[in-house]
Amino acid sequence: MHTVDAHGAAIPVIGFGTWRLTGEGCARAVAEALTAGYRHIDGAAGYGNERWVGEGIRASGVPRDEIFITTKVRPDDLDDPDFQRSVDRSVADLGIDQVDLVLIHWPSKTLPTATCMASLNKARARGVARHIGLSNFTIALLREAWAATDAPLVTNQCEYHPYLRQDRLIAACREWGMAFTAFSPLGRTRVLEDPVIAEIASRRGKTPAQVVLRWDIQQPAVVTIPKSADPTRIRANIDIFDFALSNDEMAAISHLGARHRHRVADGATAPEWDE
Ligand SMILES: NC(=O)c1ccc[n+]([C@@H]2O[C@H](COP(=O)([O-])OP(=O)(O)OC[C@H]3O[C@@H](n4cnc5c(N)ncnc54)[C@H](OP(=O)(O)O)[C@@H]3O)[C@@H](O)[C@H]2O)c1
Repeated sequence: MHTVDAHGAAIPVIGFGTWRLTGEGCARAVAEALTAGYRHIDGAAGYGNERWVGEGIRASGVPRDEIFITTKVRPDDLDDPDFQRSVDRSVADLGIDQVDLVLIHWPSKTLPTATCMASLNKARARGVARHIGLSNFTIALLREAWAATDAPLVTNQCEYHPYLRQDRLIAACREWGMAFTAFSPLGRTRVLEDPVIAEIASRRGKTPAQVVLRWDIQQPAVVTIPKSADPTRIRANIDIFDFALSNDEMAAISHLGARHRHRVADGATAPEWDE
């Protein structure tokens, strides 16, 4: 599996998103994804399904050390001892000893960044997380986080798809040597009807989702984590390593964000976004 290498973390360029998967269906989807070749699972304490994610991992028969497993800690749990309790519970629910990556799910609206970074670093120092990182951090918040961390921050996971440009944020992550993990990479299906994407897909004999996911991973430092509960779509979404988009095709897809601005993950937990 191709990886983005960031501060010693080798992050598979495509991961499997697990938000909104529940119960046996979640376990089945995770097992299906691992059988199809995914080696990176994106989860979170807040998804309430890590027990089922763990079931799916075990059912797949894929060895633990071949899988890159991410969890996240909710904004309400960023102070200690809540932070450590959250990570310990995720690890126990997943049925493993250590996650590969723990992220702050959303920046805190109440705690100083330094407090949150102390909790995050402690999880790594205790050995329950191999690597640490962030999610939904703006450039200003990234700067604060880097000033307060002992260990390197390996990724910033944020919404990114053809209808939401993130040029400045991605450039900033690259400068810090971080990966940029694209969540909701399909814009929760919104981008799949786009005529420009549909035209490229039909010319290439690929699906619109495959074109969008290929566009992600052809960008330096970008990792993508699509979610699907459907076995056919789970398999199709990772079948993106047998073609390459031309520079013109990459530019045409990137340009869509100049006309559309569609953010799917927003609301009370969100910081003041960069744009
Ligand atoms: N850090 C954060 O704050 C944050 C926020 C949101 C999401 N995430 C992570 O990112 C992952 C992905 O984001 P997301 O779930 O919001 O959105 P997404 O991956 O952009 O879209 C998922 C939707 O697309 C559909 N879909 C998947 N593959 C398809 C295909 N090939 N053709 C047509 N439809 C397809 C899925 O339906 P089916 O299931 O029916 O296929 C589902 O409705 C999440 O699961 C989670 O792990 C993180």
